[in-house]
Amino acid sequence: MSSYDVIVIGAGPGGYVAAIRCAQLGLKTAVVEGRETLGGTCLNVGCIPSKALLHASHMLHEAEHNFAEMGLKGKSPSVDWKQMLTYKQNTIDTNTKGIEFLFKKNKIDWLKGWGSVPEAGKVKVGEEVHEAKSIIIASGSEPSALPGVEVDEKVVVTSTGALTLNKVPKKLVVIGAGVIGLELGSVYARLGAEVTVVEFLDAITPGMDPEVQKTFQRTLKKQGMKFVMGAAVQKTEATKTKAKVHYKLRKDDSEHVLDADTVLVATGRKPYVEGLGLEALNVEMTKRGQIAVNGTWQTSVPGVYAIGDVIEGPMLAHKAEDEGMAVAEVIAGKHGHVNYGVIPGVIYTAPEVGSVGETEATLKEAGRAYKVGKFSFMGNARAKANFAGDGFVKILADKDTDRILGAHIIGPAAGELIHEICVAMEFGASAQDLALTCHAHPTYSEAVREAALACGDGPIHM
Ligand code: FAD
Ligand code: NAI
Repeated sequence: MSSYDVIVIGAGPGGYVAAIRCAQLGLKTAVVEGRETLGGTCLNVGCIPSKALLHASHMLHEAEHNFAEMGLKGKSPSVDWKQMLTYKQNTIDTNTKGIEFLFKKNKIDWLKGWGSVPEAGKVKVGEEVHEAKSIIIASGSEPSALPGVEVDEKVVVTSTGALTLNKVPKKLVVIGAGVIGLELGSVYARLGAEVTVVEFLDAITPGMDPEVQKTFQRTLKKQGMKFVMGAAVQKTEATKTKAKVHYKLRKDDSEHVLDADTVLVATGRKPYVEGLGLEALNVEMTKRGQIAVNGTWQTSVPGVYAIGDVIEGPMLAHKAEDEGMAVAEVIAGKHGHVNYGVIPGVIYTAPEVGSVGETEATLKEAGRAYKVGKFSFMGNARAKANFAGDGFVKILADKDTDRILGAHIIGPAAGELIHEICVAMEFGASAQDLALTCHAHPTYSEAVREAALACGDGPIHM
């Protein structure tokens, strides 16, 4: 039996970051991880592999659509899918090995295997029981099941199977127009698949700014993706190589069938708590199956904390990381803090989508007076030069104080630009503060400044 100050269960972005910060703060730390490699969902079957495939397929799209106009002539590249998967795997490997290096550097023990918590202060891994003054559960999430849809990870797949298909399908049906469906749908559409997205609601990416939703869907349609909206999937039928997707249109209950070579089920994820022994430990859960925590990430059992996808809030790697750092500080007797009002969300399609803070809907619901400053990338010289004029920056600011309350960007590098707004919001900046900040020309970020100017006396280039 070994004794630790802290044992973390799960080495995803929540768990590994918590462990590193605990070690940096002088706590003797171990991490239990059942996978063969560190990094969790994000590095192994999530953020990192999906971004590698998005990057490669975006390069192909650029070569096919924009090279000739820039005077770059010649045959556009053909797809060597096996090599693309090797590139993706190499990207995963360098990142997961990087975490192993960081563990060694910070003297963190990796307890290999699946862990459970038989009682507060103890973690069981295989037959061994280890002692810990504090336990952090960071066990992450898994894909939600959809009634009538049986996943085999070959023909009917979750995101995990979609990242390792043995070939690019001719026809891909995606169930769910959320983040996973649109990112991975984009990948396969760019690689030549006929992609149809079936979505239950009437708009894609629920909760997002409606103007962004519309522009986003229009752009994806232009790129060849098809959408069936307001459709409830009833069931799938699969053979070894093909599948049928049965759905009902909500408006008239009419029944329809789509043929597919591959079906991607992307209808959300749920917390993963299997085998942890939480019931016996009497850990309080929320109605949605998440581990309930208080303001310092402590569960109903003293000394047991939980962070990341397994607790409430957006299922995002950076949210898990922030909680990881904060809970480590709390355990070390410091003040850990996460500003849940300023957690950006990014969709890594082309164009990218970035958003943070309030939407018009949440502001209306709260009865708050606000103003909107909007600027189209069509008025941005850099974007026009780079064939990236589709999209806009929209800033929401308090009507009276001009304080920035949120921002919604669709366009080139939106996932980077959004952070200018995040920093401004953390400092309580007004739209005028941004508007008065000199922005280099020609950059995409000038569009952010112009949107800030649009909250005041007006933009210059529109
Ligand atoms: P996880 O990363 O899920 O890690 C949990 C780890 O705990 C796993 O490795 C698991 O094996 C281990 N574990 C669980 N139970 C036990 C146990 N009992 N014993 C030992 N080990 C255990 N988020 C973003 O912010 N940006 C993105 O671009 C993005 N892209 C994504 C793409 C896809 C396809 C998917 C599926 C997700 C994506 N996400 C993205 C979401 C992101 O992956 C998660 O929000 C993030 O990984 C959550 O981190 P976590 O540490 O809470 O859990
Ligand atoms: P999601 O919650 O983003 O989207 C699910 C979609 O499926 C919704 O639009 C929903 O209306 C629809 N849906 C649900 N049931 C349906 C049905 N029966 N028929 C048709 N449509 C149905 O979930 P998704 O895409 O699976 O992603 C899971 C999580 O992973 C997200 O919460 C996200 O935070 C995270 N993620 C983040 C990424 C990023 O930050 N770039 C990338 C990928 C995933």
